[in-house]
Amino acid sequence: MSKMITGKYDNWSLNLDDNNILWCTFDRKDSSANSLNEPILREFDQILNGIAQGTQAKALIIQSGKASGFIAGADIVQFKNLKSAEEATKLILKGQEVFDKLEHLSIPTIAAISGFWLGGGLELAFACRYRLAVDNEKTRLGLPEVKLGIHPGWGGTIRLPALIGALPAMDLILSGRTVNAKTAKKMGIVDESVPKRVFHKALVQYALKAPQKQGLRFQLNQKLIGLSNHKFIRPLLAKLLFRQLNSKIKRAHYPSPFITVDNWVEFGVTKPEGLINEANSIGKLIVSETAQNLVSVFFMQEALKNLAKSSVTPIKHVHVIGAGVMGGDIAAWAALKGFQVTLQDQLPKFISGAMKRAYDLAKKQLKEKHLITAMMDRLTPDIEGKGIAKADVIIEAISEKLEAKQSLFKMLEAKAKPNAILATNTSTIPLEEIATVLTQPDRLVGIHFFNPVAKMPLVEVIHTAHTHQQVLDKASAFVRKIDKLPLAVKSSPGFLVNRILLPYMMEAVSMLQEGVPGPVIDKAARDFGMPMGPIELADKVGLDICLHALEKLTATLGNNTPVPEELKNLVAQGNLGTKTGKGFYTYDKQGKIIKSPGGKSVAALPTDIIERLTFRMLNEAVACLREGIVSSAEFLDAGCIFGFGFPPFRGGPMTYIKKEGNDKLLKQLEILTSRYGSRFQPDKGWGNVA
Ligand code: NAI
Repeated sequence: MSKMITGKYDNWSLNLDDNNILWCTFDRKDSSANSLNEPILREFDQILNGIAQGTQAKALIIQSGKASGFIAGADIVQFKNLKSAEEATKLILKGQEVFDKLEHLSIPTIAAISGFWLGGGLELAFACRYRLAVDNEKTRLGLPEVKLGIHPGWGGTIRLPALIGALPAMDLILSGRTVNAKTAKKMGIVDESVPKRVFHKALVQYALKAPQKQGLRFQLNQKLIGLSNHKFIRPLLAKLLFRQLNSKIKRAHYPSPFITVDNWVEFGVTKPEGLINEANSIGKLIVSETAQNLVSVFFMQEALKNLAKSSVTPIKHVHVIGAGVMGGDIAAWAALKGFQVTLQDQLPKFISGAMKRAYDLAKKQLKEKHLITAMMDRLTPDIEGKGIAKADVIIEAISEKLEAKQSLFKMLEAKAKPNAILATNTSTIPLEEIATVLTQPDRLVGIHFFNPVAKMPLVEVIHTAHTHQQVLDKASAFVRKIDKLPLAVKSSPGFLVNRILLPYMMEAVSMLQEGVPGPVIDKAARDFGMPMGPIELADKVGLDICLHALEKLTATLGNNTPVPEELKNLVAQGNLGTKTGKGFYTYDKQGKIIKSPGGKSVAALPTDIIERLTFRMLNEAVACLREGIVSSAEFLDAGCIFGFGFPPFRGGPMTYIKKEGNDKLLKQLEILTSRYGSRFQPDKGWGNVA
């Protein structure tokens, strides 16, 4: 063993133990998480060169030096700076070379997997001879590249199918999902999944003498893995994979998973051809518009997370008033995320309904009995409101009536702890109106969740001109603590998300009234990349809720978005959408559409359906930015992506406008104004976006 190679490097350290096992610890300097970039890989390369030149070490164990156990993957900051596909491919090939070297070391190599091992981190583990993982709730393995519009590039698309077979490998790569140690062991990704207390012992055992894999079952499994990657089988399996992909996404919107399958069909798991192709393919993808936008979306998400400074005063107890659709689910979510929660309602039946839903959520999310019991123990029904005096955060989610909210907040101000957050979940009442009854209006903040609470990542944190900064900070910190993304939004009708979404939905209803079939409108929106069409969405949100929000918005923003008669009629008839089995569409008991609206009187389908839908959104987005509803174009994009699913691959409304060109879009908007009238009148803010 040459003395030169042990010791401390900038980001790695090497120690030889008494058993002659070489422990290589990755601890990226000046960073709380480990991620791989070019200089770090270069250093690792030096280490591998040292070992390859001759060593007394019997084995190499690679581990993370971060307490959190992170190897978060490749450092994606570098993606943004790449100028061309060639430059990207070159960078990837360098990484591949290093992993190749690791794979070909003569001594056994072991990845000691604990905490997150994702993306490039996991690909490093694939290049090791063995992988051992700690079996606890912190360990997660996965290849999330697809979420950034690319695919694994350091051999992951070759080594994983070769290791565990094509279908389970593609499942991980194409979904980007993560798995725990037990599942990883079942899938064959790791050789062992062991409790933390015996992890070190297991690593040493593998280093000194790894158990021989043999037996009929092992041989058979290896045959099946080989067969799944065989050139005659690949096209057959690919058909299945494409069918699955097509049911969820479009190639034109998210090409990378389709390309991953194409590559595998062509090259299988061959080396070096497959590896070279992987590098060329990812090089092209990295610089594509989709990937660049998805990387921006990733950074937006980080920016939203960073908006939430950690709270000065700790938050332990949350009190929710109103156990309806929203309040019940907010309380359950906060309990799931570890808070003590009291849930109040004027009627016990709503609390018991909410408790049942909370139990379902607990079962779905936590699975293990002791965790479910612990969560339910944290959630206490509180019909008398005893929690008010103890709570650090109080969230009001009672019915949407100004007087009721005002009298509630008056009482809360008197009874709550002086530094408790007083928050409303109102979606339409201006906070200023509620605050008029408070002696300290600066205490009121909006914590506006979206429905369904468990699914929607964004929470608007609404402030008036009076809201105290500390109150805002604490509210954002709380939102972050429950794993949601807090977006600071100025109080104004519809706030941000509903203000942009409602005109778009109502434009769809106008087209419906003109005779355009509902499914045609919905399909146009889905083709643009929206997660569902506007008519389907209105039914899902609830037509009563849409109507109420729209009436409020029209009253304050003028008559640019008049309330459609059809919407009023349906609500008057009690047809409120999916929750009553009939809205614009009619549904069967399982929620499947059995009758679609519209399509009787239209002679020919209009050709500007998607323009009408998107321009209502874009125009409103421009107005929101001009009015300072959010502080930047980036936050506006984030609000639309995480608030209502504006297509992430398009980067958000502002990114879309910049890409398409302000002047070109403005001209189109003017044409729409001449065709359909003042609701398309360009906002004054156009021109300032870029
Ligand atoms: P809901 O009608 O399902 O629930 C309201 C609950 O509040 C009922 O259980 C009712 O018994 C209770 N309640 C009424 N007055 C009360 C009082 N003085 N004290 C204690 N409990 C009282 O309403 P939902 O849909 O949950 O809405 C609640 C709030 O959330 C509203 O302000 C609404 O604008 C807002 N919101 C609703 C969304 C939705 O999609 N439903 C989305 C985002 C916000």
